[in-house]
Amino acid sequence: MVCLGNICRSPMAQGILESKLQEAGLSDVVVDSAGTSDYHIGDPPDRRAVQKSKEKGIDISYYRGRQFGREDFDEFDRIFAMDFSNYENILRLVRDKTDHQKVEMILNLTNEGSNMSVPDPYYGGEEGFENVYQLLDAACDVLIDQLKSE
Ligand code: 4NP
Repeated sequence: MVCLGNICRSPMAQGILESKLQEAGLSDVVVDSAGTSDYHIGDPPDRRAVQKSKEKGIDISYYRGRQFGREDFDEFDRIFAMDFSNYENILRLVRDKTDHQKVEMILNLTNEGSNMSVPDPYYGGEEGFENVYQLLDAACDVLIDQLKSE
């Protein structure tokens, strides 16, 4: 799960997916999140992201920010960008077609081919975080169905 800062959208996505994987009994799937920027390396998630997740029964307070790197293409089979700018930044790092094929816009799970972005909630109010949660919750449901059928 990849966004810009790795303190709002992608940690929420990681928390939601980890929680759904546990419910589905898919304990062998490894999830992580990262930011394309180095702005928040080592930082905990934004307090509004922590609060929104807590409200939904998910603890993300212990996550720490890290920057996405080329080595992530070796570690992960699927790489989800939260918005189109994240997508472009990830693609700048691909080494080959195999890397390229791993990168997807997360909301294409729910809105195929739309290339919709999860809006960056950082500069907005609390309601932006509820919107992010709803979008990611629905996308992760689709992903869980895909993983179950693999
Ligand atoms: P995120 O949100 O990419 O969803 O983690 C942001 C967090 C921090 C900044 C921008 C977006 N920032 O500019 O510091």
